[in-house]
Amino acid sequence: MEDVLDAFRAASDPSRLRILGLLEATELTVSELVAILGQSQPRVSRHLKVLVDAKLLVRFREGSWVFHRLNNQGQARKLIELVPADDPVRVQDLARLEEIEQKRDEVAEQYFAKFAPEWDRLRQLDVDEEQVANAVQEMLPLINTQSLLDLGTGTGRMLQVLGPDAGEAVGVDNSHEMLAVARSNLRRWGLGNCRLQQADILALPLASESFDVVVLHQVLHFLKRPWAAIAEALRVLGPAGRLLIVDLAPHTIEDLRDLHAHRRLGFGDDEVREWLAQQGFTCETIRHLSGGKNSDGLQVTIWLARRFASSPLPQAL
Ligand SMILES: C[S@@+](CC[C@H](N)C(=O)[O-])C[C@H]1O[C@@H](n2cnc3c(N)ncnc32)[C@H](O)[C@@H]1O
Repeated sequence: MEDVLDAFRAASDPSRLRILGLLEATELTVSELVAILGQSQPRVSRHLKVLVDAKLLVRFREGSWVFHRLNNQGQARKLIELVPADDPVRVQDLARLEEIEQKRDEVAEQYFAKFAPEWDRLRQLDVDEEQVANAVQEMLPLINTQSLLDLGTGTGRMLQVLGPDAGEAVGVDNSHEMLAVARSNLRRWGLGNCRLQQADILALPLASESFDVVVLHQVLHFLKRPWAAIAEALRVLGPAGRLLIVDLAPHTIEDLRDLHAHRRLGFGDDEVREWLAQQGFTCETIRHLSGGKNSDGLQVTIWLARRFASSPLPQAL
């Protein structure tokens, strides 16, 4: 009962209720919340502290950015449900959030459009791509893979690595420029069984349960809702399918945000495991690889996931 009372006390302020509503479906930095609420940073930070103390929010730091998200174990979602969806302040807040998220997406899209021609060189600065390719091939023998889906395919690197052993493969990306490079790469590599499709990986125009293997290679750290990309990947995965995620392990190289449009500084195993578990999936294998010679100590993790034996079908987020 104490926790419930603490939750009500903490939320009994208009700004704090607004913050809960904003964090319902995303995680935001303090400065993003400042911009949306139009209040000073100390004031917003005070509100956030009250909400964290009442176990309504979780705070986590990555370099100089501090993020907040809802505490799924607390009462936050129940409190948000009490506010009508058409409440004018709530509607205005969500419109402002949408604006801010759109600007952020544009920065990332412009980055990929600008760097598409040299993406294959840039990718090698972060990690040793041969080491990753070998590990992926070892973890995922594709002997029985009829259909492979590579989400955020970029210039098609994972199609190059896994495509030859798949019956057919599809690479999806929303960047026209990246796909143009991928298209010429596929021709050069002679991969006639691979095709490309321009689409948003958060809302795939693809049928549920239609792929044997889905891959997310170095994509999640660009996204504002990485868990939503995982949920969508799992939706299109067949009942006995495998999801392969390759991404950076937690690191502190903040320059990657400004120079390379990274949103998150890598992911820990527990975080990824939790997102998978929420969708009824479990990690079959996890491998940690150290980065390439120019990587400043960056590490790569590979998570291979499959459905829990008796789990229901995944939920859309
Ligand atoms: C870092 S690149 C990785 C490309 C490739 N997987 C690789 O490892 O070389 C991330 C790719 O994800 C794509 N991307 C980011 N957000 C996306 C979205 N919402 N829908 C589709 N593609 C997206 C970008 O256009 C970019 O090509």
